[in-house]
Amino acid sequence: MTANKVKDEDLEKFAKELQDQIMSQLRQQYSAEVIDRWQNPRNFKRIENPDGYAQVKGSCGDSMEMFLKIEDDRIIDCGFFTDGCGTTIACGSIATEVAQGKSFIEALALVSADEILKRLGGLPEEDVHCALLAAETMRRALADYLFQKKQSWKKLYRKVEVE
Ligand code: FES
Repeated sequence: MTANKVKDEDLEKFAKELQDQIMSQLRQQYSAEVIDRWQNPRNFKRIENPDGYAQVKGSCGDSMEMFLKIEDDRIIDCGFFTDGCGTTIACGSIATEVAQGKSFIEALALVSADEILKRLGGLPEEDVHCALLAAETMRRALADYLFQKKQSWKKLYRKVEVE
């Protein structure tokens, strides 16, 4: 066995141990739901020409965007984007999952920080603001939909940039 091969195997073993260590620490702090949404977020996407859109900056300085496609007052597609941490991603994912397929009124009633926390099996105190950010962004995107609906001519002049 060459010295380089030994070095590669050592490095691989070290990386694997480090990863296992990090995952075991995460499992002590977060539920399986949080880790799953963190690693495989649903609806993590920007949507062209949304019928409802909001961008909100949270208390920690991270921001979240929500994009809603709505037909006959029903949410047919929704997405979110954030520059925030893993728990913010998990919260955005749950918020969009709860809203997906619901009527405007149902989504407004259902998407709250409490609901997000419940579905995630709770969050450590210092991460609760991530759920507040996701719920607030959804609420504003829904309000934006209502506002645009009342003044539909304005939508023609509005442009939401999607990279
Ligand atoms: S840490 Fe800022 S929103 Fe999650």
